Amino acid sequence: MQESTAAPDAIVTRRLTGCRVSADHLDYLVEVDGDMRIAQWLSGEIQSPEQSRARLGRWVRMWEETGKGFWIFQDSDRSIVGHGGLFDSPREAGEVEVGYVIKPAYWGRGLATEITMAAFKVGFESLDLQRIIAIAQPANAPSRRVMEKCGMIFETESLSPKGLSSVRYAIAKEMWSA
Ligand SMILES: CC(C)(COP(=O)(O)OP(=O)(O)OC[C@H]1O[C@@H](n2cnc3c(N)ncnc32)[C@H](O)[C@@H]1OP(=O)(O)O)[C@@H](O)C(=O)NCCC(=O)NCCS
Repeated sequence: MQESTAAPDAIVTRRLTGCRVSADHLDYLVEVDGDMRIAQWLSGEIQSPEQSRARLGRWVRMWEETGKGFWIFQDSDRSIVGHGGLFDSPREAGEVEVGYVIKPAYWGRGLATEITMAAFKVGFESLDLQRIIAIAQPANAPSRRVMEKCGMIFETESLSPKGLSSVRYAIAKEMWSA
């Protein structure tokens, strides 16, 4: 087992506070799952509220079962700006993946970068992970830029079983702490 403990329920970055995702966050998830500017880079299609409800249930169980998952982040006005966190990769066995989504009104302010760096700190310092990966569609330039700004290194481009192309980046604990 790679991790030694559970991730904290609350996390603070320079501009944001994050709290462990819970059933209270359904409205937020319905909002982002219903926004094609976001959905195009995730499932590829708008999700129904029922699909969001099911996804939220999986996220809540993931925390309970694996001791990590997504935090929902608020700014100083207590407005939700997005989510991000660490999870066992469903695509790469044995790997822990970082993921992030920022609501379009908040794009371009460095918030995804801030969240990703905070997730790395938890992953490497609290969970004692040796490596964290990130996966994106090749055309998702903003997401790839976040990975690069956070010190991740491009590793490979591959095809999923459904024939969709994706790129994988990674950062090792020794690279992060250097
Ligand atoms: C990807 C995402 C989380 C980035 O959030 P963000 O808070 O705007 O990210 P940051 O501000 O930290 O960094 C974005 C970087 O991408 C750059 N960028 C934005 N659009 C770009 C484009 N079309 N081409 C190249 N770079 C681009 C920005 O300039 C910035 O880089 P810089 O700081 O060097 O100028 C946000 O766009 C999002 O939620 N997208 C939809 C969901 C998604 O794709 N999630 C990731 C799935 S892998």
